[in-house]
Amino acid sequence: MLKEWSGGVRIATTCYGLWRLDYSPMQDVTNLWFMKVIAHYGSPDYFFTEYFRVNDTSRLNRNILAAITENDTGRPVFAQMIGESIPDLVRTARELCRYNIAGVDLNMGCPAPRIYRKNVGGGLLLSPEKVDRILGELRSAVNDRPLTVKMRVGFENTDTFYEILDIINRHSIDLLSLHGRTVKDMYHGVVKYDLIAEAVRRVHCPVLANGNIDSAKTALEVLSQTGAAGVMVGRWAIGNPWIFNQIRQALQSEPIAPVPLVEVRNYIDRLWQTPTAAKFPVRSRVGYLKMFLNYIALSVDAEGHFLRLMRQTQTEVELFNLCDRFLLAEVTKTLALAPYSGV
Ligand SMILES: Cc1cc2nc3c(=O)[nH]c(=O)nc-3n(C[C@H](O)[C@H](O)[C@H](O)COP(=O)(O)O)c2cc1C
Repeated sequence: MLKEWSGGVRIATTCYGLWRLDYSPMQDVTNLWFMKVIAHYGSPDYFFTEYFRVNDTSRLNRNILAAITENDTGRPVFAQMIGESIPDLVRTARELCRYNIAGVDLNMGCPAPRIYRKNVGGGLLLSPEKVDRILGELRSAVNDRPLTVKMRVGFENTDTFYEILDIINRHSIDLLSLHGRTVKDMYHGVVKYDLIAEAVRRVHCPVLANGNIDSAKTALEVLSQTGAAGVMVGRWAIGNPWIFNQIRQALQSEPIAPVPLVEVRNYIDRLWQTPTAAKFPVRSRVGYLKMFLNYIALSVDAEGHFLRLMRQTQTEVELFNLCDRFLLAEVTKTLALAPYSGV
């Protein structure tokens, strides 16, 4: 069991291989950098690495490993694996246990077709008996280190959901992070918080509720609706890295401190300065920044003007002029506490 887990709601984040979306030139960017950026604005209680791919030829990816070995955020880091080959998962879990990790996490939720078609990530949800064997072997492999699972509520429906929750109990999994969508839902549609609530009631371990937690208010609502031990915030921390502190403020019934847009402008500068992106041609670098701005812009103006115009910019000068126009013009303006709906 996670030793420090008792007492208080826990807040976690996953760090993404953002560049995987469509910025292949960025493959060497490490998430350690983004964890540090997040930490600058107020860390979550836990970080999860992006997944280490595991197969018969895999070795620990050095960039992902740096998020563990060079992590100076002061927060524990779970190391996530994705794979289905039991000997290789066991080998990799043992290797990971040699590092300073909070635990080993198994990805059973990745919805990318090229991943789930190999029966890994979200694909595992179709094979409960395989999950049973994997978790049994991993449980022995990690000894007394925490073994955790990140999953969705099903592949296409909830046919295997309850069976897998029971498997999680059978292997004394230490923590379940549950994204309340199916694999086929990808990242769209309603998050089924009621199913997260069912999982909370059924499993013996703490559950982190995940999916569309885009503000402190939503975090509180989801915690109350699900009874989860904590929340996991993903994409919304990109648009608002202050969200973890804001959730803490809300949990303590304190007023939530709005973030002046001028600070958002500084955050954008920080994003622009990512060490690896600086080596790329300016056009790719502009594209890279736009990935982040796609989230930030949702909370800048209710009409979506900033988002639309930002997407039209081509050059660094155009992009930064636009940022200045929207973010520095009125010093009293603040980032919305939740993304504007309809933007
Ligand atoms: C670009 C991208 C990469 C992701 N990579 C991972 C990953 O490596 N491991 C993982 O468990 N989840 C990954 N996720 C899923 C998120 O952890 C999270 O479950 C999902 O985005 C829903 O939460 P959110 O609404 O707070 O973003 C990724 C999501 C996105 C959009």
